Amino acid sequence: MKLFVDTANLAEIEALVPLGIIDGVTTNPSLISKQGADMAETIKAICSIVKGPVSAEVTATEFSKMLEEGKYLASLAKNVAVKVPLTVDGLKTCRALREQGTMVNVTLCFSAAQALLAAKAEATFISPFVGRLDDIGEKGMDLIDDIVVMYENYGFDTEVLVASVRTKQHIIDAAVIGAHVATLPPKVIYDLYEHPLTDKGLK
Ligand code: G3P
Repeated sequence: MKLFVDTANLAEIEALVPLGIIDGVTTNPSLISKQGADMAETIKAICSIVKGPVSAEVTATEFSKMLEEGKYLASLAKNVAVKVPLTVDGLKTCRALREQGTMVNVTLCFSAAQALLAAKAEATFISPFVGRLDDIGEKGMDLIDDIVVMYENYGFDTEVLVASVRTKQHIIDAAVIGAHVATLPPKVIYDLYEHPLTDKGLK
C-alpha cells in the first residue's frame, strides 16, 4: 500500500521523507493557503523533495479554465498529479489531461457510481473521502470496499486513493480491503508508530 502525506507544509514533508515510508503528497488550495506561500513555488518545492506523485488542485470549475489551469500545474514539475473535482467538467478535464500523459487525481468522490465514471475517464487516482462520509453517518469504508471490487471486476488501472483519513483504523481497514493508496495528515502517520505495549516494553 502506498502512503501519501496530506499537507503543503514543507517542514512536515522534509521531516517525513527520511522515514522512508512516504510515496507521494496530496495538497489542496486550503492546505496551500494555510502556509501563506506562493502556490506554484510551494508545489515546485514539494516536487523537489518527494519523487512520487504530488497532487496540485485546480480552482476553476469550468472545463476550458480547468484544462488551462491543469496544464499550468502539470508544467511545474514532472511528478505533478493534477487534482480535479468529480463533476462533469472535472471528468472531461481528466480525460483531456490523461490524453496528454498527465497524471490526474479525481477528488471529492462520495459514491461508487462516481468512482466508475472516474475510472472510465482514465483517472490515475480516485479519491473517495471516508472521514466526511463517516461524519454524515455513512460508512466511508464500505465505499472503499465497493470501489476496489468494482475496479477489480473490470481491470481498471485507476488507483483507489483513500482520502479524508482521520484515524489509524481507517488505514488498517483500507489496507485489509486492498486499497492502493491512502493519504494521511502527518499526525495520523506518526500515530501509526504508536502502541502502548511498545512504550511499556521500552520502559
Ligand atoms: O484528503 C482530503 C483531505 O484534505 C480532506 O480531509 O479531514 O477535511 O475531510 P478532511
